[in-house]
Amino acid sequence: MSSAPETPSALDVLLSRASTDQLGLPAPDKGQIARILSAGLRAPDHGKIRPWRYIVIKGKNRAGFAEKVVEAMLAADPEVPEKKIAKRRQRFSEMPMTIALVMALNPQSKIPVAEQELSVGAGAMNVLNALHAEGFGGFWVSSDFAEQACFRDALGLTETQRLAGFLFVGTPEKPVGGSKRPDIQDYMAVYKGEPVKFEADQ
Ligand SMILES: Cc1cc2nc3c(=O)[nH]c(=O)nc-3n(C[C@H](O)[C@H](O)[C@H](O)COP(=O)(O)O)c2cc1C
Repeated sequence: MSSAPETPSALDVLLSRASTDQLGLPAPDKGQIARILSAGLRAPDHGKIRPWRYIVIKGKNRAGFAEKVVEAMLAADPEVPEKKIAKRRQRFSEMPMTIALVMALNPQSKIPVAEQELSVGAGAMNVLNALHAEGFGGFWVSSDFAEQACFRDALGLTETQRLAGFLFVGTPEKPVGGSKRPDIQDYMAVYKGEPVKFEADQ
């Protein structure tokens, strides 16, 4: 008699996450994405700034959003290669879901802006882990064109809001998690009263 497979622990889930941009349907539904993004709001947040904002782009709004991306790319660099435009247009219109990671920063706060940005990064990582835990996949990409006024206006960003990138979201087309990682012993050190050295830096 075969025994039921063991449920992976929370740590097993964290240790098996990997990014993938080979993503198909389904994307998380309304309830699922609300729960997954709630994991983002579990990020540490010095001073209760609450700097996380998530814009969900899905379904029929993807194509129009992709055109805003192209418009911003051209505003940033009119000479941008056609190949780069085609790739981004395709990804933003075909990924099952995209989440724009907005950093709602408070420059007046005594909490350094860098800490506020780190909180948004920590939130994004929680979202990637939550996606993985729920059987979905994600891939964090940069938003080098996002400072363009046309793009900021299209998203309704205020003066103190900036993007930390985008998460592409969907169901992995093949299993993830097998990618090789460095050995932790090269990246950790135990302090023994002397300056530390990391194997990774030798
Ligand atoms: C802020 C940020 C921006 C990133 N931007 C890109 C990007 O534009 N293109 C890309 O190929 N990877 C980008 N990456 C890396 C991928 O999201 C991913 O981490 C990488 O492919 C390694 O996969 P792993 O997460 O399984 O280690 C970015 C990562 C971070 C944290």
